Amino acid sequence: MTVAGLILAVETSCDETGIALVEDGRKIHANVVASQVAMHAAAGGIVPEVAARAHLRWIVPVLDEAWAAAGVGWEDITAVAVTEGPGLAGSLLVGINFAKTLAYVHDKPLVPVNHLEGHLYAAWLADDSRDLAEPLFPAVALIVSGGHTFLVEMRDHLQYRLLGETVDDAAGEAFDKVGRLLGLPYPGGPAIMKAAAGATRHDVKFPRAWLGDTFDFSFSGLKTAARRMIAAETGGEGTSVGEAPLPEGRVAEMSEGFQDSVVDVLVTKTVRAAVAAGARSVVLGGGVAANSVLRDRLAEAAREAGMPLVVPRPGLCTDNGAMIGAAAARRYEAGARAGLDLDAKPSLPLARR
Ligand code: KG4
Ligand code: ZN
Repeated sequence: MTVAGLILAVETSCDETGIALVEDGRKIHANVVASQVAMHAAAGGIVPEVAARAHLRWIVPVLDEAWAAAGVGWEDITAVAVTEGPGLAGSLLVGINFAKTLAYVHDKPLVPVNHLEGHLYAAWLADDSRDLAEPLFPAVALIVSGGHTFLVEMRDHLQYRLLGETVDDAAGEAFDKVGRLLGLPYPGGPAIMKAAAGATRHDVKFPRAWLGDTFDFSFSGLKTAARRMIAAETGGEGTSVGEAPLPEGRVAEMSEGFQDSVVDVLVTKTVRAAVAAGARSVVLGGGVAANSVLRDRLAEAAREAGMPLVVPRPGLCTDNGAMIGAAAARRYEAGARAGLDLDAKPSLPLARR
């Protein structure tokens, strides 16, 4: 078997410019992320053109910082990996063209990586800050990000069977949209988590879309529910963006009620799927996996069902280069190589049913 060695990984699919140096898909030598969050917060969301230009502005400084942090050089690198999709076309192209140039100039193989596979393989990264065992197969993984929400079964490396996915909004998208309705800053996920922690009355109940016995999800009804509740409590007066429609305490209660609904459905379905698959471990990944209530409740429910939960630390759940380096190691070992004609694949899928 070819051993991956040290891979330089580039991630620019959305609004984080990430470059990492990862050894054998497990040991992180450097993981630098330049976040555009503050920049997009003013617009209340991502503006694709602005995101692509920011990647261009930051990608070289991010690479310089990664080299400096790792203390290695090109002679130590086996391959260059890059996210080919899914994501924003303009953002993906910046990383792809950058990685192609590096691979060509330094005569290294180029390894294309699926961003969603990166979120999954973040669970295989070693973590100096805590003792984290590798997930055991078969594993059932829940990936919850701003653009995707799905459950997959993995019987071995790089083998996926799609168990269920969202039929409308992704979980992160629901956090972002409801956050905006509540007048919270972008992105809604961390803002709702923070607001919810201040809830005292615990009296807001959001609906749950169970969709029968399926492992599919639906979150778009939560926006409508939030809009109705806010209208009922404010007498239907509109508010402008960034302005809280309700007193702070009420925003906290609503944040908690909303978060509780999303977490309840995600945890219940994931554990049910894991039990049905005879899984030996549960994996959690994607930006929403940075949510501490989701992490804690899924860990507890999985433990009760006799399975460990493997979830990366929050900084490795949101977009970063290290997760791409983790997935790239497996892809490299399996012989995946791209030519200089590699193109962005904005709607690249990960798995089929
Ligand atoms: O994976 P990610 O960084 O980018 C995508 O690939 O989409 O995920 C971003 C999403 C956003 O919707 C953001 O609101 C959500 O992850 N998110 C959270 C938290 N941190 C980030 N959602 C809930 N709680 C959090 N703490
Ligand atoms: Zn992502």
